[in-house]
Amino acid sequence: MKAILWTKYGPPNVLQLGDVEKPTPKENEVLIRIIASTVTAGDCETRSLDFPIFLSLPMRLWLGFRKPKENTIPGTELAGEIETMGKDVRGFKVGDQVFGVAGMAFGTNAEYICLPETPEDMQGGIAIKPTNMSYEEAATVPFGGRDALHFLRLAEIQGGEKILINGAGGSIGVFAVQLAKYFGAEVTAVDSGEKLKILREIGADYVIDYTKEDFTKSNQVYDIIFDIIGKISFSKSNKVLKKNGTYLLANPLSQMIRGLWVKMTSKRKVIMQTASGTVKDLIFLRKLIEAGELKTVIDRSYPLEEIVEAHKYVETGRKKGNLVIAVGDNNKPKV
Ligand SMILES: NC(=O)c1ccc[n+]([C@@H]2O[C@H](COP(=O)([O-])OP(=O)(O)OC[C@H]3O[C@@H](n4cnc5c(N)ncnc54)[C@H](OP(=O)(O)O)[C@@H]3O)[C@@H](O)[C@H]2O)c1
Repeated sequence: MKAILWTKYGPPNVLQLGDVEKPTPKENEVLIRIIASTVTAGDCETRSLDFPIFLSLPMRLWLGFRKPKENTIPGTELAGEIETMGKDVRGFKVGDQVFGVAGMAFGTNAEYICLPETPEDMQGGIAIKPTNMSYEEAATVPFGGRDALHFLRLAEIQGGEKILINGAGGSIGVFAVQLAKYFGAEVTAVDSGEKLKILREIGADYVIDYTKEDFTKSNQVYDIIFDIIGKISFSKSNKVLKKNGTYLLANPLSQMIRGLWVKMTSKRKVIMQTASGTVKDLIFLRKLIEAGELKTVIDRSYPLEEIVEAHKYVETGRKKGNLVIAVGDNNKPKV
């Protein structure tokens, strides 16, 4: 099968199209013919191991110390069709259209992958894809949708609360804006350029262009600040977060020390952690999508063969929402 091979840690061109053996499912696994996958900011950071040492070290132990192990395939989310399965699989049948994540096992930038059937309340997993989404659309939901849901649930977001979402125009943000609206909050979305129009269209009540306006100098006070991009200064944003408000940090590495300080010295709640998601979360998102409450935002789509270009584009930071990798014949690339 065709797959992207990740041979070194480094810039986008360490990724190459190659041929590897098509996998065979174990007794509890399904073999999925992947029709669409994605490239996220997290995929680019992982490719180059652009992390502080305390995080890059465990990643090296997991993936390979000096370079990724042989035949390591990048990619964390997918949509596709079940081609065959192991004898113990109960919840799926051949031909089912599914979406989901491979998570830290990676491997979705390829024509096929084997994934286990997992109980609904366990991390990771796959579920039947929303009927009203194409494969390309569905492939973008598992990572950003579940991460956004994870953090908003931790904040126990309530109807009527005011939330500010920083870095709202990316993979996590476009779902966070819509989910926060679904939970009844008033949403202020911070990003830049063309993304502001999209953010209004998907429901943001207010948008702020961070290149033109510093929200920490406004008169607004928020119940929740969700800093997806990890670039807010706590000392400044403290002024616009309620005294008992909540900081959500999806990218806590840069702000861990300050986050702990705020936690220790004020009544503000600081939540910084790695997001996790379950099959139940995928089903929850699917129901919202099918009810017309949630949609995705896709900037562009690249064929598998153009993975290097796709990574380069994501690294520009200009991506609007999500970037899709079209695999196989069922997708017509439309850059
Ligand atoms: N904690 C976890 O479990 C977890 C899980 C997944 C991802 N992450 C991390 O979360 C981060 C974001 O992920 P993502 O996939 O949503 O990224 P993304 O798709 O690149 O979106 C980030 C958005 O932030 C905007 N931005 C950049 N600088 C900004 C600033 N100073 N103020 C406001 N907005 C700004 C970017 O737009 P412009 O550059 O065009 O302005 C972009 O639209 C990544 O670093 C990723 O590793 C954490």
